[in-house]
Amino acid sequence: MEPYCLDVVTLVPQVFDSLRSLGVIGRAFSSRIAELNVYNPRDFTKDTYRKVDDEPYGGGVGMVLKPEPIFAAFDSISIKSRTRTLLMTPQGKPLDQGDLLRWSKEHDQLILLCGQYEGFDERIRTLADEEVSIGDFVLTGGELPAMVIINGVVRLLQGTLGAQESILDESHSEFLLEHPQYTRPAFFRGMEVPEILRSGDHGAIAQWRAEQSKNRTKTRRLDLYSRWLEKESSSQEKKDK
Ligand code: ADE
Repeated sequence: MEPYCLDVVTLVPQVFDSLRSLGVIGRAFSSRIAELNVYNPRDFTKDTYRKVDDEPYGGGVGMVLKPEPIFAAFDSISIKSRTRTLLMTPQGKPLDQGDLLRWSKEHDQLILLCGQYEGFDERIRTLADEEVSIGDFVLTGGELPAMVIINGVVRLLQGTLGAQESILDESHSEFLLEHPQYTRPAFFRGMEVPEILRSGDHGAIAQWRAEQSKNRTKTRRLDLYSRWLEKESSSQEKKDK
C-alpha cells in the first residue's frame, strides 16, 4: 500500500524531526505506513533577505505572514487524489476524534499549514479545506497542533498499532473515557488493586470496567456522556424496531 502522505508547511521544520525517529509514530514512518514531508516557505522566497513576514496593512503591532512564500511552498507539494488541506488556527473548528478518524479513512494525504508569529495574511485561508484548533488557548505557532494531528491520524492507520493495542473500542468518535487500569504489584504504598480485577471472573471484570467507564465520563465530561447516552438510546431504538 502507498504510504499515507503528511505534508507540512512550516517556518520551523526542525520541530518535526523528532516525529520521524521516536516511538510508535516513528516506526510508522520507518515502515512506510506514512510519509512525512516538510516545506519551509523561507526556501520559496525570492528576495535577498528571504523575508516571510511584513507589517500589517492599516498599522498595528506585530508582523503578518506574507502570502507569496506560503502559496509557493503549497504549489510545490505533489497532490494526491484524496487530499485535504488543514490550516492550524485557534479560530478553527475544535479538533476531536471524529476528525482524526475521517482524515485517516477518507484521505490519503494531509497538507498541514502552520501559522507563526502574530498572524497570517487572510488570503492564506483560501488554501485550506478546513481550519482546525486544538483547543481554546493560544500557542506561538501551528507546529504543535500539526504534530497533534499527525500523531492522532498516524496512530489510526492500518499497521501502526499492533493487534494488542487495537483501536476497536474507538470505532466511533463519541467514546467514553477509559476505565482505570492496574498492573503489579497488587498492594503499593497503601493502595490496593480492586479485588474484582484479580478475581479471574471475566464477565464481572467487563461489567466493572463498563461501569467505571460510564461513571468516569459522567463525572468528568458530562458533555461526552450526554452524547454517548443519546447514541445509546438511538441504537437501542433501532434494535427494538
Ligand atoms: N495556533 C496557535 N494556537 C493554536 C491552537 N490552539 N490551535 C491551532 N492552531 C493554533
